[in-house]
Amino acid sequence: MPQALATLKTLIEEHLAAERSDPVRALQTPEQLRAKFELAPPEEGIPFEELSERLRGIMAATPATASDLFFNQLYGGRDPAAFTGDVISAVLNTSMYTYKIGGVQVLIELALVKRMGQMMGFPDAEGVFTPGGSLSNLAGMVVALNQAIPGYKDHGAQGKQPRIYTSIEGHYSVPKAAGLLGVGQSNVVKIPVDGRGQMLPEALEAAIVSDIEAGFTPAMINATSGTTVLGAFDPIAAISAIAKRHNVWLHVDAAYGGTFVFHPELKAHFADVGLADSVTWDAHKVMSTPLTCSVILVKEKGLMTQAMSQSASYLFQGGEDEFNPGTRSIQCGRRNSALKLWCAWQVNGDAGYLAKTQSVRNNALTAQRCIEAAPELSLVRVPESINICFDAPGVDTDALLDAVCESGQGMIGHAQVDGRTVVRLVFLNSDVRTEVVERLFVAIQAQARALAIAPAA
Ligand SMILES: Cc1ncc(COP(=O)(O)O)c(C=O)c1O
Repeated sequence: MPQALATLKTLIEEHLAAERSDPVRALQTPEQLRAKFELAPPEEGIPFEELSERLRGIMAATPATASDLFFNQLYGGRDPAAFTGDVISAVLNTSMYTYKIGGVQVLIELALVKRMGQMMGFPDAEGVFTPGGSLSNLAGMVVALNQAIPGYKDHGAQGKQPRIYTSIEGHYSVPKAAGLLGVGQSNVVKIPVDGRGQMLPEALEAAIVSDIEAGFTPAMINATSGTTVLGAFDPIAAISAIAKRHNVWLHVDAAYGGTFVFHPELKAHFADVGLADSVTWDAHKVMSTPLTCSVILVKEKGLMTQAMSQSASYLFQGGEDEFNPGTRSIQCGRRNSALKLWCAWQVNGDAGYLAKTQSVRNNALTAQRCIEAAPELSLVRVPESINICFDAPGVDTDALLDAVCESGQGMIGHAQVDGRTVVRLVFLNSDVRTEVVERLFVAIQAQARALAIAPAA
């Protein structure tokens, strides 16, 4: 281990320096990378020093997704306390299925579930950490199906056809989960949205009523708090009233937006989330906890355990289910994702997360101002949270983003809005300073002007 620790320290210090001087790396082709590195596992092991050399090259060739010019996906930044907790988790190598194995780590996870549940309006939630929002949404759907069709776990749908409702702006993990769980993706009903990207409650109710008349079993409504493209929030109170009227499970996918429960204004979107039955919240998004770190929270204790638990005498050997998180998890062996969030929360406190959400929201508003002041650019939507969708009329969006990336000025992605490809700029790294955002827009404007004069081939 001493050699591993020394190597780690050197490699990490070098990496942080390289990331500062080279925050956007040109994408290399698979052929280029295969030619550069020996990637197949060897028959004979190599000395540790050689591993360290190989890692140095591989780290330098990896896209810089933690730098302050990464705006491409819904994660970013690097929380030092969370990083520390993640490394400690690897050192402890605890599998989070039973109290016998996890001990105090289980209590840490329980404390986070309790606190995060309370913040969402669930006084005493049942929950478990998962490897991401997709898995948390899937877990929510498992519980919903077991509530909609008693005995689902043992006997399947028993001749019934469950239906799932989500908006057209909902994340793809919802139909994916329906496909995986045997519901079938065609039984996911996509509800239209208004101009802000919020689900239309009247359309939702009409779809449910028509499904009931046609003999379907409405099993789950997925409302999204923080949609992937527009960062919009579905109207929870109105959706919850419909869910209650028709006795349908309401899941809130707050994988992305959950952390805005700390934000002084955006937290208003969470006032009614306590009316829902389950919530997904990713800490690896706006909280900048290293991937992966997500939680599924269920309001009524016991329902997750009922839907998930299995008897396995080689693993579960007594003790209350509450302290054996494997009884409510999809996984058996499970990495400890709770410790890194616990470490980060210890250091940030609620106040630190409030400041983080203010910082990312302010950056989004700075971006909005830059776009409104730029004759080359056009804002596609007023930002609902921290997603900025815009384009440069007359300029191909892909060509614009490639030019910005290739010139080392920022890594940004695109999305479809109103049937066309636009820039989707997302601000999740709270360490990004206002000047960085302003500089980014100077670069984007210059590239847009250049491309308008000489369109990409
Ligand atoms: C609204 C929403 N839900 C779920 C997910 C999936 O989360 P994960 O990438 O952690 O699986 C995302 C990812 O961006 C998302 O935006």
